[in-house]
Amino acid sequence: MSMTIATQSTDQGLILALSKGRIFEDTLPLLEAAGITVLENPETSRKLILPTNDPAVRVLIVRATDVPTYVQYGAADFGVAGKDVLLEHGGEGLYQPVDLNIASCRMSVAVNAGFDYASAVRQGARLRVATKFVNTARQHFASKGVHVDLIKLYGSMELAPLVGLSDAIVDVVSTGNTLRANNLVEVEKIMDISSRLVVNQAALKLKRARLQPIIEAFQKASTLQG
Ligand code: ATP
Ligand code: PRP
Repeated sequence: MSMTIATQSTDQGLILALSKGRIFEDTLPLLEAAGITVLENPETSRKLILPTNDPAVRVLIVRATDVPTYVQYGAADFGVAGKDVLLEHGGEGLYQPVDLNIASCRMSVAVNAGFDYASAVRQGARLRVATKFVNTARQHFASKGVHVDLIKLYGSMELAPLVGLSDAIVDVVSTGNTLRANNLVEVEKIMDISSRLVVNQAALKLKRARLQPIIEAFQKASTLQG
């Protein structure tokens, strides 16, 4: 820990953690607003550390779920992560100054089209729920007083009810196309989701002069965009 802080205090370079795909694409215009251009495309480059037009700013390409961890431990100074991912991580060691209003979707409960979720809940049935978002799901069903057995999955949650692994899933929904294509129906919205800027709390103090203008540029650009 002390080594990390020593590195941060002497090295004024900045490291940003992003995931490939929608978060990377949607963060590019915000970076441009802060005068930062990423010089390589993560879809075609095999590099995991990408240079920018500013030699002092580099971009780490990590899994979406890993962004908060890199930032929490100071391996990245800042990053962009979905609220879904942040709720599962817990947010420890992270400052979350800006809702960027990107990668917007919602977290919902979905079931097979033939399954009467409302009556199962009314009757106090114990439900099997498959999800990547176990903390959020546990909290949601506990607050409704619904008994659930949670089954942790890492992807393709939509498959679970189709093959009898679960009665329901908790997953993110945007257009609803994935649910429709698999004959599932959304029965309950848990919350709206968007992505946030996350900043390492120690880095914010030690590198405030470098970070603050970027945070402000992101804030301004995301407000204009929204
Ligand atoms: P990992 O790679 O760690 O398994 P992932 O595949 O869920 O994560 P992405 O698909 O890149 O990662 O999603 C990143 C974030 O974008 C999610 O955390 C969520 O907040 C949001 N998101 C997920 N699916 C959608 C969608 N269909 N439309 C809009 N936003 C979405
Ligand atoms: C996400 C999520 C859903 C889908 C919902 O998957 O896991 O399956 O989006 O979006 P829709 O309501 O618009 O269909 P994503 O597209 O990110 O695929 P991946 O997570 O498997 O990469």
